[in-house]
Amino acid sequence: MSESAKLLDGKALAKRVLAELGGRVQACTAAGRTPCLAVVLVGDDPASKIYVRSKERKAASVGIETRDHRMPATTSTEALLERIAELNADESVHGILVQLPLPAGVDERRVLEAVDPRKDVDGFHPDNLGLLMLGVPRFVACTPQGCMRLIAASGIELSGKRALVIGRSNIVGKPVAQLLLQQNATVTIAHSRTADLEAEVRGADVVVAAVGRPELVRGEWIKPGAVVIDVGINRVDAGGDKPKLVGDVAFEAAAARAGWITPVPGGVGPMTIACLLANVVEAAEAASS
Ligand code: GUN
Repeated sequence: MSESAKLLDGKALAKRVLAELGGRVQACTAAGRTPCLAVVLVGDDPASKIYVRSKERKAASVGIETRDHRMPATTSTEALLERIAELNADESVHGILVQLPLPAGVDERRVLEAVDPRKDVDGFHPDNLGLLMLGVPRFVACTPQGCMRLIAASGIELSGKRALVIGRSNIVGKPVAQLLLQQNATVTIAHSRTADLEAEVRGADVVVAAVGRPELVRGEWIKPGAVVIDVGINRVDAGGDKPKLVGDVAFEAAAARAGWITPVPGGVGPMTIACLLANVVEAAEAASS
């Protein structure tokens, strides 16, 4: 391969994070408080089912208990709020994850606001997003946290760098922009109405792509030596019997120019799960103090 970039290996880092969590889980369990995550999955979205299964498997691998709450796609907002109230009141549950997206008829805002902020291991509650904005985070959303841990583990200095976040979602784009700002990067958020995405990418020392559009960012746009964090996981038809996973960045061409780059798969994805489980352990530790 012609690429010159070093890989930001999320699989390897996630393994290290999980190994460290294992010890903390054991300590909690020895104190009679096994960390426990309630996973609420509403409806039959196939991608969500895969994500949830993979979160539960990884949780089990470090001794974290998970409790599955599957609800039909016809579930009303009220019924879901009731279930969340029960989980909030259950002292043996330390973390609550409501898998997104929710079915169209459910009021996502009300549901996310109903989760006890101290059990909000996804970091989606307005209290937790507000604390992040103020620079005193409690639970930081898992994908943004995973991006930052990948950068930190590689010793990349962000202070004074020009960082471009592509995508302005509440669960990735906005929080990761805040985290980059807290590391003293000069942050731009690009989105679907940005006039000249190519020019923004060409000027960026760090690019975080989180839009869910296969290979939207062309490799030739990447500034030589830049850090490329690709949050996208897009399934595309590659002519075979299985869809191919590609990121939001054209990997081969970008890797030929970048200094550091995350692969897809094996970059941000495994870190998202590791950070979720880190939040669960933190919630369990906080509950016991
Ligand atoms: N859907 C896509 N990403 C996420 C995530 O990080 N958490 C939850 N709960 N749902 C998601």
